[in-house]
Amino acid sequence: MSNRTPVKKVPIHLQSAQSRLFLKGGKIVNDDQTFYADVYIEDGIIKQLGQNLVIPGGARTIDAKGKLIIPGGIDPHTHMQLPFMGTTAADDFYSGTKAALAGGTTMIIDFVVDQKGVSLLDAYEKWRGWADAKVCCDYALHVGVTWWSDQVAKEMEILCKEKGVNSFKVFMAYKDIFMLPDDDMYDVFRKCSELGAVSMVHAENGHLIDIKSKELVSQGITGPEAHEMCRPEEVEAEATQRAITIANQANAPLYIVHVMSKSAGEVVANERRKGKVVFGEALAAGLGTDGTHYWNKCWRHAAGHVMGPPLRPDPSTPGYLMDLLANNDLSVSATDNCTFNADQKAIGKDDFRSIPNGVNGVEDRMSIIWEKGVRSGKMDPCRFVAVTSTNAAKIFNLYPKKGRVAVGSDADIVIWDPNEKRTISAKTHHQAVDFNIFEGMTVHGVPLYVITNGQVVLDEGQLKVTQGLGRFIETPCNSEYVYSKIRTREQMCQPQRVEREDYTGPVIEVMHEV
Ligand code: URP
Ligand code: ZN
Ligand code: ZN
Ligand code: ZN
Repeated sequence: MSNRTPVKKVPIHLQSAQSRLFLKGGKIVNDDQTFYADVYIEDGIIKQLGQNLVIPGGARTIDAKGKLIIPGGIDPHTHMQLPFMGTTAADDFYSGTKAALAGGTTMIIDFVVDQKGVSLLDAYEKWRGWADAKVCCDYALHVGVTWWSDQVAKEMEILCKEKGVNSFKVFMAYKDIFMLPDDDMYDVFRKCSELGAVSMVHAENGHLIDIKSKELVSQGITGPEAHEMCRPEEVEAEATQRAITIANQANAPLYIVHVMSKSAGEVVANERRKGKVVFGEALAAGLGTDGTHYWNKCWRHAAGHVMGPPLRPDPSTPGYLMDLLANNDLSVSATDNCTFNADQKAIGKDDFRSIPNGVNGVEDRMSIIWEKGVRSGKMDPCRFVAVTSTNAAKIFNLYPKKGRVAVGSDADIVIWDPNEKRTISAKTHHQAVDFNIFEGMTVHGVPLYVITNGQVVLDEGQLKVTQGLGRFIETPCNSEYVYSKIRTREQMCQPQRVEREDYTGPVIEVMHEV
C-alpha cells in the first residue's frame, strides 16, 4: 500500500455541526433502483438510510422533498494542469475540482502522462505533489505508458501493489511523443492482465494523422478545420478495432477513452455483442456539441473546440453517441477536461498542428447528460446514475464506497433538481478557462446541494470549497466487474498441443540464398 498515509484534513469551522447531516424527504436514485428514504450522514459516511430514522441530535437537516438524491458524479477522465503541447492546461487541480463540485461531480480520475523515458514512479509522485495540495474533492490517478522497457513493467507492478493505481493508458496517436507501436501495446496489455489492471487506450491511427496533416499544410489548409480533416472518423474506427483485437489477444480488458464518432462507437458495440470485455467512454463534449464549429469563421471559436479525437462534423453524432450510452453499448461518461485559454490556443494560429488539444466539460457533464439523455427520453434516472457515476466506480474498483447511495458508502451525494435550469457560459462558470464549448446552452438538471465526504460544498447556490480537502483514493486491482470473465477465459482457453506421432519421412534440404 501507499507509503503516504491519507490524512483527512477537516478545517475547524467544518468539524462540528456539518459532520452530521440529515437529508429528508428525497427520492434515492441508484443505478438499479429508486426509492424514497431519508439519509443520515456522519463523519463522511452514510450511516442510515430509510424512513422514520432515529438519529443523534445536532444534525443539520436539509429538505430534499421533490428532489433526487444521487451518488456524486465520477469523472474518470480529466487532465488538470497537464503540461502539453508547449503549455500547461489552464484548469489546475484547484479550479478544476472546484468546478467539478459546482456541477455535481465529487470525484475525478486524472492521468499521469509524462514524456517517453521518464520513470513512471517519478511521474506519479510529481502528479501527487501537484494534486494533493490542491484538490477540493477526492481523486485517483491513471498512469500513461508512453514507452516500454523492463523498467516500465517493473514500475507498473509497483504502482499497482504500492501506490494505489489500477489503470494504464496507451496512445495510438501523438506520433513521436506518446504513441506506442502495436507490439509494445500488446506487452502493456499483457502486463495489465497479469496485474489485474485496466488497460486504457487513446485510439486513433497516429501514422495516418501525421501524413494527412502534412498533406493539408502543404495544400495551404492550416486552420482548425484541418484538425478534423487530417483525422476523420475511419482513422478513429480503425484504431479502435485494432486496439480491441490486440487487447483480446492479450486477454486483457480494454477501456476505450473518448469514443467520438459513430463508426468507432459501432466498433465498440459490435465487439461487446461478440463478448469482448471492452468498455467505451463517451465525453460531455461529444454528447453535447459537434464538429461543425471547426468551420466557424472566428478562429478562436474554432480553435476552442480542437481536441483529439475531434468532434465530428456530422451533426447526428451526439444523438447517436447518446443512444449508445443509453443502451449500454457505451458504458461511461467523462470529459477529458483539458482546457487552454485563447492565448494558449493561439500557439497554433498559423498551423493547426500546434493548437493545444483539449476542451472543458468537468463542470457541465452532469447537466448536459441530464438534458440530452434523460429529458430527451433516451435514458431513465437510474441509467443516468450508472453512466455518470456507478459504472466508473465499478470499472475502477471503487464501488460501493463510491457510486452508490447506501449505508457504509462515502457521503459523496448530490441533491439534484431535475426541473431547475441554467444557461451555461464562460462568464459564469467556475473553471479558470476563458471559453466554454457549451456557451449559451440552457440545460435542465441542476445540483442544489453537493456533499463531498460529508461536507456540504454547494449549499443553496453558494460554493464553499476548501483547497486540499480532497483525498487521494487508492484503486485496487482485480475489479471483479472487469476481471471475472477474463480470469475464467484464462483457465478455459489455455492453448492445447496436439499429441501425435513424430513425422519420420524424408525432409528436403532448405536452400540458402547466396
Ligand atoms: O484533446 C485532448 N483529448 N487532450 C488531452 C489529451 C488526450 O488525448 O486525452
Ligand atoms: Zn486521449
Ligand atoms: Zn467566436
Ligand atoms: Zn485525455
